[in-house]
Amino acid sequence: MANVTVLVGAQWGDEGKGKVIDVLTERAEWVVRYQGGNNAGHTVEIAGARHVLHLIPSGIFRPPTRCVIGNGVVVDPLALRDEIAEVRQAGIPVDGRLFLSDRAHLVLPYHRAFDAGRERALGQGERIGTTQRGIGPAYVDKAMRVGLRAAALADPDFPMEIRRRLEAANVQLRQQGHAPFEVEPLAEKLSAAAAELAPSVADTAWMLDEACRRGERILFEGAQGTMLDVDFGTYPFVTSSNATAGGACTGSGLPPNRIGRVIGVLKAYTTRVGEGPFPTELNDAVGEELRRVGGEYGATTGRPRRCGWFDAVVARYSARINGVDEWALTKLDVLDGFETVRICVAYEHGGRRLETVPADLRVLAACRPVYEDHPGWRQPLRHIRSPADLPPLARSYLVRIEELTGVPIGILSVGPGRENTIVLPRPGIPA
Ligand code: GDP
Ligand code: IMO
Ligand code: MG
Repeated sequence: MANVTVLVGAQWGDEGKGKVIDVLTERAEWVVRYQGGNNAGHTVEIAGARHVLHLIPSGIFRPPTRCVIGNGVVVDPLALRDEIAEVRQAGIPVDGRLFLSDRAHLVLPYHRAFDAGRERALGQGERIGTTQRGIGPAYVDKAMRVGLRAAALADPDFPMEIRRRLEAANVQLRQQGHAPFEVEPLAEKLSAAAAELAPSVADTAWMLDEACRRGERILFEGAQGTMLDVDFGTYPFVTSSNATAGGACTGSGLPPNRIGRVIGVLKAYTTRVGEGPFPTELNDAVGEELRRVGGEYGATTGRPRRCGWFDAVVARYSARINGVDEWALTKLDVLDGFETVRICVAYEHGGRRLETVPADLRVLAACRPVYEDHPGWRQPLRHIRSPADLPPLARSYLVRIEELTGVPIGILSVGPGRENTIVLPRPGIPA
């Protein structure tokens, strides 16, 4: 494994990044989140126990690996405090292992209120279907240069500053016809959280650079996915940060020439939560079956995920945008029972064949998937531990994904547990 690896979601999020990070953490000294916030929900299953992380990197379950929440992340201090408590409750040591960048921006209660208010005000067809965690408004404040950064958590003036900001937000909330905050109890709660988090605030860019110089291995944990990236996703139905591999540099302070390898995480089919175009979506019994077998319900909001067949156009686009060296392909076991599995190999639009994702949303929304049918393997894959044990039909499905994307598969996941993972000795499904 290269010393610095970036792991990114290659579809619309929920590809199984948390699970793969947990497996790879065995060989890393540091795991780093670089964008997004607690809109993410990353699931790690260890010995049958299910843990869902939103802000803390999924490396936390493998001490002594250290975890960093980078400057590109937006951090809700109340959510982070609660999540730390949950992880401790599970018996995992956190002190001295979790660091929060002093340059990360804070998500404050009014960001959540503005997020929810905006979604309510938008009409059908305009609504983004956000997680309502205040992510968009927090990044707005950052870009507007009025945000509050984690360094402020340790400032003795934090309680005063937070009162001032809550009062100002109340003026706006009243203007928009929303209930204002009760400033005093909320300011106290936030100040208590700030005091708890302050010891973990650090200059993490410096720490990571020093770690690199010592030859330690760093794993970047992308949140969301390429199609939710603010630049390369299905704008405006996206999140407000750069989920793609390039975000790892700006979101952590580690320069591009340090990055040695990019792993893209792909689900063996496709899902999406929230609104926006999704060419291979299935609004039928097959889509329902994928949701049922795959347990496709949001790890953060519990919303049912929209499901569809594997989209090789999206995967190919992600491979290029992120410079993916190898795929981690997850949830192959979910397709075990299907008589036929389909792959979308291209889009059809106005009599033209498209091989990549168009920027124009109206074009994307009108694209029809061109499918290729593959006979299903119809046998359980969960017990499989080596690519040699794959049934030939499963193998040909995987080989076809490699061909269509031009990227070899290096990790195969056939169940939610650590043990349901095959790390190939060398990327590429053997013929
Ligand atoms: P993330 O946001 O990319 O970390 O993914 P989520 O945690 O939101 O969703 C992935 C879901 O699939 C979780 O419930 C995982 O436990 C589960 N999962 C991950 N890999 C596999 C797999 O290979 N097979 C099955 N059946 N479930 C998996
Ligand atoms: P992980 O890291 C799937 C989606 C929301 C919505 C859009 C914008 O678990 O893969 P936001 O709250 O970010 O402003 O919402 O992005 N979204 C996700 N979908 N997985 C996620 O994270 C997501 N985080 C945000 O559903 O469509
Ligand atoms: Mg998720």
